[in-house]
Amino acid sequence: MTRSTNLSEWLEDHLGERARRSGWKLKQIAEGVVEVTGGDGQQALLEEEGGEGTENDDRPCILIAAREGTTSDEHFDVFTRDVPPNRLHRAISNAMEIHRLRNHEADRERSLRRRDYELKELIEIGKSLSAVNDVDDLLAEILEKSRHLVGADAGSIYVVEGGDGVESERTLRFKMSQNDSIEYESREFVMPVSAASIAGAAVVMKRSIDIPDVHAIPEDAPYGFDSSFDERTGYRTCSVLAVPMINQTGDVLGVVQLINKKRNPATKLVSPVDFEREVIPMDTRSRELVETLASQAGVAMENALLYVEISRIFDGFVRASVHAIEQRDPTTSGHSFRVAMLTKRLAQVVSGQDSGRFADVHFDDDDLKEIETAALLHDFGKVGVREEVLVKAKKLYPPNLKIIRARIDFIRRSIENDHLQRRLMMIETGVEDQELAILDQACERALAEIDECWRVISAANEPTVLPEGDFQKVEQIASRTYFDLNGDRKQYLEPKEVEALLIAKGSLTAEELEEIRSHASHTISFLKEIPWGRSMRNIPLFAGAHHEKLNGTGYPHGLEDEDIPLPAKIMAIADIFDALTASDRPYKKAVSLERALQILDFEVKDHHIDGDLVQLFKDAEVYRVLKQDEGEKAEKK
Ligand SMILES: [Fe+2]
Ligand SMILES: [Fe+2]
Repeated sequence: MTRSTNLSEWLEDHLGERARRSGWKLKQIAEGVVEVTGGDGQQALLEEEGGEGTENDDRPCILIAAREGTTSDEHFDVFTRDVPPNRLHRAISNAMEIHRLRNHEADRERSLRRRDYELKELIEIGKSLSAVNDVDDLLAEILEKSRHLVGADAGSIYVVEGGDGVESERTLRFKMSQNDSIEYESREFVMPVSAASIAGAAVVMKRSIDIPDVHAIPEDAPYGFDSSFDERTGYRTCSVLAVPMINQTGDVLGVVQLINKKRNPATKLVSPVDFEREVIPMDTRSRELVETLASQAGVAMENALLYVEISRIFDGFVRASVHAIEQRDPTTSGHSFRVAMLTKRLAQVVSGQDSGRFADVHFDDDDLKEIETAALLHDFGKVGVREEVLVKAKKLYPPNLKIIRARIDFIRRSIENDHLQRRLMMIETGVEDQELAILDQACERALAEIDECWRVISAANEPTVLPEGDFQKVEQIASRTYFDLNGDRKQYLEPKEVEALLIAKGSLTAEELEEIRSHASHTISFLKEIPWGRSMRNIPLFAGAHHEKLNGTGYPHGLEDEDIPLPAKIMAIADIFDALTASDRPYKKAVSLERALQILDFEVKDHHIDGDLVQLFKDAEVYRVLKQDEGEKAEKK
């Protein structure tokens, strides 16, 4: 044997027959390199070291390596060409066995790595699902992640609704679908929960329905394939996996339905050939993964639904509380709800600014909810204000006015009595008619004076600004005296009554005004009692500052511009605007929109409220939300 034969020929001569018996295939893959492949696919590589044309048979040696995929080859044995065939055969067999073992190990490692990846994916998915509170967002996330896990081209998600515990009355709502290959519009629809549909069967049977090919569903299956979507869109559904999402108590909350698992998840299915070549049945591992994900999804759904329920209870409770507070003063009914609407709208407008002072302000949904709730509860502290003060429409409380009226009547009657007694005495002593006439006139004048007293008191009782002269008149009346039934001298008006009637503006005394104002600090202290949680923690702060003014003259803390939170500044505008325009106070006329906006401008000039915010309030016509709301309410009726 000379070195003139190449390795491949040499091997054929040296080992040919044995190799064929062992079922090996010899293939020269490069100059001086031969690949030996066994029946199970295991391989060995023979490589001849030394250059061509070397005549020394002892020198070039044959390096045998166990081939292992893409990893670098490694010398396993070394021979010269005089190696006996049986030794060479054994060495190649051993190299191939090592290759097989290595391959096996590599497979295991790959599968472990894959499982490790999938486990991490599932943990990540679990984490991200538990962070989503909005049910629709959550459903989209569940569908997306499930499709990603198994490499499904499309999918849809359904939720079980209604029934109130009666299984037969439940319905299945198709919520959304996703498809990597085609675009189409999908709308929600409701269908009965029945095993006639694939998703329905997953609900009824409480287990996964795995269909390798929807066009070959066994005759005895209760469900069939609804081909209307495929017919409408030209899509071709083949493999389907429907997995129920079940909560801890075993109720099915929904179904994830995955369609068309692909060999290569990145491929788009366009032509019939793509569907033929790419779509494969869901395998066991896919099913296990989606089932694991679906059980996480069930818990996340339950949490999201609970969150929705708690939010609804919370909203209902807040609204009921506000209603209860407003019941105490029916004349301001609806004020808190309107202030909440105006505040939320203005906050949205502020948040939407991309230039100017508010360009950096962004309120997300949680922020807006916090601001809206704070606005709803801004006058919550009125529970701490006496009802009579809250509803006081005139300067005197009605019972007090009644007492004055009775006193006036008594004085009147006393004058008449005195007059009659005196007249009787005069008649008994036999006076002239003329003297009696003078006496009668005096009595009439006295009575007229009393009537005038009552007129002045009634006029002064109105919450309008008192004309200058009326102050003296009230004081004069107060200084007049009469004798009560015990013969004690009394003043026409008591000091408290005089104080009330002399209120220069409005209907409240300084003390009562202070009591009304205390509602702001009550709002803070009451709302502070509530454990609002992270996203709502500023409610007491925002609500409690709605009467603060930029120049520090507001209450309860006299905060200045930079210390007043932006939502409270927004709320202050909404509060003033509604107090001006509300038409439900019988004793106070609502002002026109133009006048109300003008008054807001005056408030800006006085440095009470924020001018930029008022400008946005006007530019964006924020007040229109009230009209829209009225329209919606009327429509509902
Ligand atoms: Fe208030
Ligand atoms: Fe208010």
